[in-house]
Parts: sequence; structure tokens; C-alpha cells
Amino acid sequence: MGKIVIAIDGYSGCGKSSTAKAVAKDLGFTYIDSGAMYRAATLHFLNHYLSPANPHDVEKGLKSMEISFHFNPETHRQETYLNGLNVEDEIRTMRVSEHVSEIATIKEIRKELVAQQQRLGKKKGVVMDGRDIGSVVFPDAELKVFMTADLETRAERRQQELFEKGELVELEAIKTNLAERDRIDSSRAESPLKKVPDAMEIDTSNLTFEAQVAMIVQLANEVIQKEKDYAGNH
Ligand code: CDP
Repeated sequence: MGKIVIAIDGYSGCGKSSTAKAVAKDLGFTYIDSGAMYRAATLHFLNHYLSPANPHDVEKGLKSMEISFHFNPETHRQETYLNGLNVEDEIRTMRVSEHVSEIATIKEIRKELVAQQQRLGKKKGVVMDGRDIGSVVFPDAELKVFMTADLETRAERRQQELFEKGELVELEAIKTNLAERDRIDSSRAESPLKKVPDAMEIDTSNLTFEAQVAMIVQLANEVIQKEKDYAGNH
């Protein structure tokens, strides 16, 4: 009781991950970053010179890739591992951002990662963010949110994030990358990014971080309360 699935989808760089993480912390839920899995797969393909356009390479890549999350007690965050190595920082670099959406168009890769995401969310009490969480991974999620923000705001936020991690990137290059990923993610044949009818849309362009977190936590608490009331009456 009190455990639901919260699916947060939206465009690149609109603050889904940091928001989802804070929502999970507030509710005592587990946060799962599905984008990190596509990013780790991309790193694997890049490191091994595997082409997503070559079916043999895709098969080879999937067979030799193991992605997992482990809690780091020092940073207090879930970190991404690829074949036993911590790749949390490396997967956020522009090198990976420039190739991830192409990797994410591949049906076989999506099938594998979606299955893993569904296993991770089976026990509920999770907040997962991505592009197809409310539509494909958890179509029955009790709360679905679709986050947006204008491109300028998203690019500025992402530039600051990269700067804090020691990567200095021009705003124009970030804007181009975000817009290009939005284009590929929204137009691909396999589970394209789109707002599902039962998702709540939240435009964060003019919201503070605290306000957007509070809004989702409140929506989640309303859903949890409704479930409790329903269970009490049946
Ligand atoms: O944090 P940011 O908005 O830059 O992106 P991300 O959530 O780390 O996702 C990186 C890329 O992975 C996206 O641009 C998509 O191409 C892909 N992705 C996806 O296809 N499906 C998901 N559920 C999550 C990410």
C-alpha cells in the first residue's frame, strides 16, 4: 500500500532526471534513470567500435553489455555501471549525447532495455524518467507526467550541469544537440517520444526546481490517497 509507479517523460534536458530524483527522495521511492541505460549502451557501442546500423554488431553489443545501478554511499546517489565499471560521469559527456539518440532508435536495444526497466519497477515504489515510460515501459503507471521547457532554458541548464562536471561546451552546440535529439526521439518508428493522453503536462520554463518537485509530489500523494480510500471501501 502507498507504492505506485510514477512515469516522467519529456524532451531532452528539461530537468526530468533531477526532478524525478528529488520526487523519489521525498516519497521514499527508488529513482531509475532509463536515459542512463541508453547512454551506457551508447558508450559500450562507441568503445567497441560497434555500429548500430549493423545487425551483427547490435547482437554482439547486446551480448557483451551488462548495465546496472549501484548506490554510492559517498555521493548518496544511484550510479550507472557498465560491465562492472562506474560510468556515471562518462555517460553524461557530449561524446555520448551526440550518439545516444541513434542508438535509441534500434528495436533490439530498446527491447532489451525496456525488459530490464520493467523488472526494476516490478515492485512499484519507483519514479522512472525517460521518453517512453508512460507509453511503453509502464503504460499502467498510476501517475504520468510529461515535462517540457523552452529550448533556450534547457540549453542553459544543461550548459551549467556540464560546466559543473568540468566540461565547457558552447551554448549553440548544446542547443543543436538537444534539438536534434528531440527530432530523432519524436520521429523514430520504435516507441517515439509523445505525450500520452493520461499524462499531466508540466512546463518548467518558469518554475523553480522546488516548485516542480512539489507539484509532482502533491500529485503523487493525491493518487496514493485515492488508492487508500478505494482499498478502504472494498
Ligand atoms: O538527460 P537528457 O534529457 O539529456 O537525456 P536522457 O534522459 O539521459 O536520455 C538520453 C537519450 O536516450 C534520449 O535523447 C533518447 O534518445 C534516449 N532515451 C530513450 O530513447 N528512451 C528512454 N526511455 C530514455 C532515453
